[in-house]
Amino acid sequence: MNNTDSKNLKAVNTILGKLEIRQVKMNCILHGEYLANQVWLGGKLKEISECPKCHEEHLAERAIDEEKARKQEEAKNRQARIKETRMPLEYQTKGFSTFIQDTESQREAFNMAKRFVNGWEKAKAGGYGLLFLGGCGTGKTHLACAIMLELLDRYALFYPRYYKVSEIFSAVRSTYQTGATTNEEETIKEAL
Ligand SMILES: Nc1ncnc2c1ncn2[C@@H]1O[C@H](COP(=O)(O)OP(=O)(O)OP(=O)(O)O)[C@@H](O)[C@H]1O
Ligand SMILES: [Mg+2]
Ligand SMILES: [Zn+2]
Repeated sequence: MNNTDSKNLKAVNTILGKLEIRQVKMNCILHGEYLANQVWLGGKLKEISECPKCHEEHLAERAIDEEKARKQEEAKNRQARIKETRMPLEYQTKGFSTFIQDTESQREAFNMAKRFVNGWEKAKAGGYGLLFLGGCGTGKTHLACAIMLELLDRYALFYPRYYKVSEIFSAVRSTYQTGATTNEEETIKEAL
């Protein structure tokens, strides 16, 4: 302790009363005996440190709670971003993991969709798209939505949008009306 420190301590002692740290043996009902620090100020006990093992456990519990809250927040954000895609509800919980690959054409379509996701940066730069052709109920929309979900998870700042072709056509048609605020080209660009 230097001169200034001892002067400061004296000042504290005169204003608030004497400050003292005492070490005392305490007993934790869970962990047994431990040495606790007691803070005394002006003859009054102000603070006692808790059992170090309890303290560690409390910190660990808090870390678990914080991690849980972080995960909940993440799931909430993910859900909000999925909702923003306008994707029909039934496809929101599907994705690649639930796509059955029993036939050769299912495997081919699945692999193509995966390749599209993996090559997304290139596809985006080159303006490439992916067109699924096939009969009713063969999983075209399922795979298209799986691509959106996967890209949404990989790229935090990516906001994909789901449009039916009919919606794009009607948006384009509405630009032909007099007084339309946007033109055909801009509308198509925005939808893609
Ligand atoms: N290979 C598959 N694995 C798992 N589910 C599938 C598969 N194929 C289709 N389905 C499911 O069947 C239903 C119909 O599929 P989906 O809507 O993707 O078909 P589609 O090809 O888009 O049909 P449409 O031409 O009528 O739009 C969905 O619930 C989808 O999840
Ligand atoms: Mg479909
Ligand atoms: Zn304890």
